[in-house]
Amino acid sequence: MKSFFCQHNMTLDSEHSSNCLNFSFFLNNQLNKVFYPKFFFIFFILFFIQSSFADPFSSGDVALGENLHNQNCKSCHDGMVPGGDGNELYLSELRVISTSSKLISQVEFCANQNGLTWFEEEIESVSKYLNDNFYNLSD
Ligand code: HEC
Repeated sequence: MKSFFCQHNMTLDSEHSSNCLNFSFFLNNQLNKVFYPKFFFIFFILFFIQSSFADPFSSGDVALGENLHNQNCKSCHDGMVPGGDGNELYLSELRVISTSSKLISQVEFCANQNGLTWFEEEIESVSKYLNDNFYNLSD
């Protein structure tokens, strides 16, 4: 099949074929100029968007947090809501906490109030569990 831009026969036509080469070079060059900077620009924007939504609890362990929470915290909260499911305390209708630093402080406060001497890692993990499952705070 003959190419649309380069309709030359089998006979060697050096002038014509070099025009063809020039044309494809021109096309590639335009692609490089127009598309690649755009791709970089889009990646740049996406990078900033994703870093502004970064998880504020990057160092906690959710499974550990869930265990600690259910063993030490849940029963008291359960007694506070009519339906008996203390986790409703964390849902948007009832919650008071609105930022990740307030969430960490509240977890630490409740732990201290209840005589638990938790390490930083345990406080982080419970906070991460609560955030991943209920709060979804990003700052
Ligand atoms: C003896 C009862 C009791 C225990 C045990 C308890 N809490 Fe609480 N918690 C409360 C009360 C009461 C409130 C609501 C009033 C307040 O903010 O102090 C509360 C509120 C909270 C909130 C805020 C909810 C909101 O409004 O967004 C979080 C988070 C929380 N507790 C986490 C914990 C964690 C984590 C533990 C386990 C270490 C825990 N609590 C153990 C009684 C308890």
